[in-house]
Amino acid sequence: MIRNHLIAPSLLAADFTRLERDVAMVEQSRADWLHLDVMDGRFVPNITFGMFIVQAIRKMSAKPLDVHLMIVEPERYIEPFRAAGADVITVHYEACPHLHRTLQQIRDTGAKAGVAINPHTSVELLDDVLEDLDLVCIMSVNPGFGGQKFIYRSIPKIARLRQMADERNLYPLIEVDGGVGLQNAEKILQAGADVLVAGSSVFGADNPTEAIARMKDIGQEARQPFLV
Ligand code: DX5
Ligand code: ZN
Repeated sequence: MIRNHLIAPSLLAADFTRLERDVAMVEQSRADWLHLDVMDGRFVPNITFGMFIVQAIRKMSAKPLDVHLMIVEPERYIEPFRAAGADVITVHYEACPHLHRTLQQIRDTGAKAGVAINPHTSVELLDDVLEDLDLVCIMSVNPGFGGQKFIYRSIPKIARLRQMADERNLYPLIEVDGGVGLQNAEKILQAGADVLVAGSSVFGADNPTEAIARMKDIGQEARQPFLV
């Protein structure tokens, strides 16, 4: 079964000399969210941008901003990112010794609370915080860079998490991030994902708007077989 799914283009692959144009493209497309990758050069080797850029993007976009914090000690920056306009704030499991507290902190700001897990982190480790989560981001590459190859072993993780959550009548959104494109989106959705993050497969496409639309349309026939 494929559920109604969301598309979250990752701005990491946009042209930052033409940020306004690229945000406007997403804005006018069928994308549901805008995914913003914050990297600190410590949790991951790369450095991207912080809350000032998130705030600038907030002014250009009415879509929900899905802020993926790839930073150490994310609890120090939850309120500033929320004030900058984040709607979903995702922290890394591997960066949070007090994950339960950090998730409460995110919810207290009014944002949706997400946790991301690296490819080596089992979904079973989330068992005791499942109630406290609005979203789980399964990393299907090692975080830090766009344009990497999708790690196929992420697919059974999606299915396991979906089963864990279903058994307890919980419905965190399952997001998949890294190496996602038209070539693997259907399999990812069939495994139980709700949100597809796509950077290079959107911004590297000849027609990014159409790439978003095609990803959004996956599974449509299966969902509406009797519409004529
Ligand atoms: C990777 C980031 C991703 C990245 C995805 O660390 O979290 O969101 O932008 O880029 P693609 O889709 O190119 O793999
Ligand atoms: Zn990301």
